[in-house]
Amino acid sequence: MSSDVLVCQGISKSYGEGEQKEQVLSRVDLTFQKGQASVLIGPSGSGKTTLLSILGCLLAPSEGELIINSEAVNFKDKSSLTEVRRLKLGFIFQHAQLLPFLTIKENLVVFARNTGMQADDIEQRIQLLIERLQLVAMAPKFPSQLSGGQRQRVAIARALLHRPSIVLADEPTAALDWHNGQTVVELLLDQARVEQAVLVVVTHDVRMLPLFDRILAIENGIVQVKQNVK
Ligand SMILES: Nc1ncnc2c1ncn2[C@@H]1O[C@H](COP(=O)(O)OP(=O)(O)OP(=O)(O)O)[C@@H](O)[C@H]1O
Ligand SMILES: [Mg+2]
Repeated sequence: MSSDVLVCQGISKSYGEGEQKEQVLSRVDLTFQKGQASVLIGPSGSGKTTLLSILGCLLAPSEGELIINSEAVNFKDKSSLTEVRRLKLGFIFQHAQLLPFLTIKENLVVFARNTGMQADDIEQRIQLLIERLQLVAMAPKFPSQLSGGQRQRVAIARALLHRPSIVLADEPTAALDWHNGQTVVELLLDQARVEQAVLVVVTHDVRMLPLFDRILAIENGIVQVKQNVK
C-alpha cells in the first residue's frame, strides 16, 4: 500500500450562490504521508478551517476528491462518513470540549467506548497515554480543575486514543501562552510520530513553524507547500 494516507485531488470549495458566491479553495492537490506533520497557515478567512473540515470529512468539497487509505470518500453516504470519522480521524479544537460532569478518566473512557474500542484495550490505552502526557495525577479530577495546558493535553490523549491514522488540530494553542502552547505542540508532534499518524495543525503562531516537516500556506484559495529543512 502507498504511504499516502490522505490525498486531496482537485479540491475546490465555494460557499453561497450567484453573486454571493465565494470561492474559498481552488483546485487544491495535496498528499499527506504516514507520520508526516504539516502546519497550515494563512490570513484570517483564507480557508484553513474549511480545508481542515474537508480533510476531516466534516464538510463536502464542491469539487474534487478526498482519498483516505486509497479509497475515495463518498460525502453523500452519511453512515460511511460517520464510520470514517470514528475509526480514522482524531480532532483537537481550539477549546477542548470535555464533559464537565465527568472526571478526566471518565471523559476518556466515554470517548473510547464511542469509537468501539474493546474494554481491556481502553484501559491499557488510557493508562499509556496519560503516562506519556503526564496526566496521571489529573485522571480523577474534573475538567474545571485543570489548567488550559492540561486540558489541551487531555484533548491530545482523546484524539489519539483510538489510534486514528489522521489527526487534525485547529488552533490547539490559541488559548495558551507561548510556553504552554509550544509544549502542547511538541507533545502532539511526538505522539503523532510515535503513532505514525498524519498530523495537520492550524496555527497563527509563526514561532511554531520550524517544528513541522512542512508548511502549507493558503492564500486566495491556493495552497503552497514548503518543505522545512531539518
Ligand atoms: N458555513 C459557511 N457559510 C458561508 N461562508 C463561510 C462558511 N464557513 C466559512 N465561510 C467563509 O469562508 C471563508 C474561509 O473561512 P474559514 O473559516 O475556512 O477561514 P480560516 O482561515 O479558518 O479563518 P480564521 O483564521 O479566522 O479561523 C471566510 O470568508 C468565511 O466567511
Ligand atoms: Mg479558522
